[in-house]
Amino acid sequence: MTAFPPDFLWGASTSPHQIEGNNVNSDWWAREGLVPGMEVSGDADDSYHRFREDMQLLADAGLTSYRFGIEWARIEPRQGQFSKAELAHYRRMIDTALELGLTPIITLHHFTNPRWFAEEGGWLSPHATERFTAYVTAVTEILQDVEWVVTINEPNMMAMMVMLQEAMRSGQVAEWQSPTVEGAASDRERIAANLPVPTADFAQPFIEAHHAARDILRRRTSAKVGWSIANGALYSAAEHEQKLIEVRYLWEDLYLHAAVEDDFIGVQSYSAQEVNAEGLVPHPDHPENTMTGAAYRPDALGSAVRHATAVTGLPALITENGIPTGDDARRIRYTAEALSYVADAIDEGVAVRGYLHWSLLDNYEWGHWAPTFGLIAVDRETFVRTPKPSLSWLGQVARSQGASLGARE
Ligand code: BGC
Repeated sequence: MTAFPPDFLWGASTSPHQIEGNNVNSDWWAREGLVPGMEVSGDADDSYHRFREDMQLLADAGLTSYRFGIEWARIEPRQGQFSKAELAHYRRMIDTALELGLTPIITLHHFTNPRWFAEEGGWLSPHATERFTAYVTAVTEILQDVEWVVTINEPNMMAMMVMLQEAMRSGQVAEWQSPTVEGAASDRERIAANLPVPTADFAQPFIEAHHAARDILRRRTSAKVGWSIANGALYSAAEHEQKLIEVRYLWEDLYLHAAVEDDFIGVQSYSAQEVNAEGLVPHPDHPENTMTGAAYRPDALGSAVRHATAVTGLPALITENGIPTGDDARRIRYTAEALSYVADAIDEGVAVRGYLHWSLLDNYEWGHWAPTFGLIAVDRETFVRTPKPSLSWLGQVARSQGASLGARE
């Protein structure tokens, strides 16, 4: 007996800046290298040119779906100047996916902005929605036959990043404490575990832009529209329930409420985190921690899909789940466990439409190359792709519609 329905989407996710290379008109490109210890994206995985090979590997393994992004900074390198050649490039990617039998899931914004947009004031500028929707309108011209569109990836992480940048600009914090500080996992752990919770005013520009983009996509395409939230799988002891509700509201429920009229909710889950009377509890050093210092919590995905679907009343599409590790057997173990929690949720009646593993390729992890999330390793000198055992393992799970995961209690 398998919990996964026959039309369940099985695949992997990427984002443009992390794999394409030479995204020179983006704000991230401009920022890279300015912070000590931060690595640059450079040629990345050169997936801009090698996307067919990447999709072919995914399809050959038995997977049926690929989530990838369109890079705003390439489509509109100057405000109001839209590149027909770049639109054609992304249309070729969509055609290639369809030709290989992969359902394309398209992300329109994944952390990076065009440099001109950032210089104009970015998401805090009064023009933010107008600028974003002009780009979205241009992209609708290439979205024929695309069934799934994610407008903005992790608006809650974006709001947090914008809040930190603002605090830096106004001198409230001396240096942007991004997870890019040189050193071991413990440095990153300290920072990642102490990320501030964004206040509601930083959420508003993203909510407004998402709603405006959704209207345009509904008018001009036949795609299902949603956005994908960083789901924290937050929990607390019973006596801190009230604080949990407050923190979870600002961290994710605000963004889930803003999705209730969408067609699906994108769920992105890696780990779980405790809340106590003071707020998020920094996660301590532990031998089981992953390469980015997060707790090893495959069960988080089960809590995340339950919470996101309960709050929104929408079907979930798991748009990201994975583990940064150099030990591929551990990746397989983590993913098998995470999927068993998804299967339990489906058995209980939770609507889940698909599972997209993060990530197809080892890639640029926002300042670092060390954390390897990929089902495929990439030689950064030669760009040779080497599939890891986890790729064929996940392909087998897909071909068997989950049956190869084995019997569950
Ligand atoms: C992001 C990805 C990132 C991944 C692993 C998510 O927050 O959408 O871009 O690489 O987590 O950290």
